Amino acid sequence: MTQRYSRIAGTGSYLPPRRVTNDDLVAELAARGIETSDAWIVERTGIRARHFAAPDVPASELAVPAARAALEAAGAQPGEIDLIIVATSTPDMVFPSTAAIVQHKLGIAGCPAFDVQAVCSGFVYAMAVADAMIANGTARKALVIGAEVFSRILDFKDRTTCVLFGDGAGAVVLEASDRPGILATDLHADGRHVGILCVPGNVSGGQVLGDPLLKMDGQAVFKLAVGVLEKSARAVLAKAGKQEADIDWLIPHQANIRIMQSTARKLRVPPERVVVTVHDHGNTSAASIPLALDHGVRSGQVRPGQTVLLEGVGGGFTWGAVLLVL
Ligand code: UT7
Repeated sequence: MTQRYSRIAGTGSYLPPRRVTNDDLVAELAARGIETSDAWIVERTGIRARHFAAPDVPASELAVPAARAALEAAGAQPGEIDLIIVATSTPDMVFPSTAAIVQHKLGIAGCPAFDVQAVCSGFVYAMAVADAMIANGTARKALVIGAEVFSRILDFKDRTTCVLFGDGAGAVVLEASDRPGILATDLHADGRHVGILCVPGNVSGGQVLGDPLLKMDGQAVFKLAVGVLEKSARAVLAKAGKQEADIDWLIPHQANIRIMQSTARKLRVPPERVVVTVHDHGNTSAASIPLALDHGVRSGQVRPGQTVLLEGVGGGFTWGAVLLVL
C-alpha cells in the first residue's frame, strides 16, 4: 500500500483593517501615562505595526475570511472539507469551540471540528494533528486555521507586553496525497514553565476569577525560545532524514526578529530565506505562522516544491516544528 501523506493545497490569511503603527500606539499609551517609543519597540523586537480587530469582532470573524482565501487558493469548496482545526488562545466563547463556530459560518455541518490550545505553538500543533488524521485515513481535506484576537487580553498598562501583540488569522487547506507534503513533525511541552507566559484568569460562578490579562517574563521566554527552536528544528530534520542545507525557507513564529535571526544563524539559514512579517503584524500567536506562510506564498517567495520549516514556540511552555514540501 502506498503511504498516505498530507499536502498543503492552498493558503489564506486575513488581517483586521485597523493598522496601528508604533507611533499610534506610543501616542495612545502616552495619553494613559505609559512611556514607550518606536525606537525601543523596533530595536528590541523588529515590530513597526500591528493590526487590532474592532472590539466586537471575535476570532471566528478573522478565521472565516482566511479560510475562504485558503479554499479559493486550493480550488476547493467548503463542502469538501471533512476536518476543521482552529488553533487559538482567544476563542469566541468558553465553549463551544471556535472551530464549530467557523464550520457554521462556512455553511457546512457534520465534519469534526475542534480547537487546539497551545498558544503560539498552536498552529504547528494543529498541523501535526491534521497530518496524523489525514495519514490514518480519518480525513481527506482539512482546514487548519490559526486565529487570534490577542488585543482582548493585553494589559495596556503594561508596556513590556502590550506593544508586542496583534490580531489576525491564517489558514491552510491540507489534503491527502500520495506524495509529501508534510515530511515530519515534532511537538513538545514543559508545564514547569506555565508561569512565564500566561493569562492567569478563569470564569467561575458568573465572574472572572484571577487576572484575565497576559503576563510574560520576556527574558525567560526569550532564553527558552532560542534553545528549543534550534533543538526542534534539528529533531524534525533528523526524523525526515534531511539536513540544514535542505531548508529552502524558515517560517518561524513571529514574536521577535532577534529570536528568528538567532535561530536562522544556528541552522545556517541565510536571512533572506526567513519569511518575516513581525514588522507589520506583531506577534499574532497561533496566527503568526500561517499569516507568514500565506505572505510568503502570495508574494511569490515560497514556491511549490520547496522545503519549508515551520517553527512555533510559546506559552505552556510549548514548542514544535513541521517540515514540509510545499
Ligand atoms: O509569543 C510567545 C513567545 N514570546 C516571545 O518570544 C517573547 C520573548 N521575549 C522578548 O521578545 C523580549 O524579552 C522582549 C521584547 C519582551 C523584551 O526585550 P528585552 O531586550 O528582553 O528587554 P528587557 O525585558 O530586558 O527590558 C529592557 C529595558 C527595561 O528597562 P531597565 O530595567 O533596563 O531600565 C524595561 O523596563 O526596557 C524596558 N522596557 C521598555 N522600554 C520602553 C520594557 N518594555 C519597554 C517598552 N518601552 N515597551
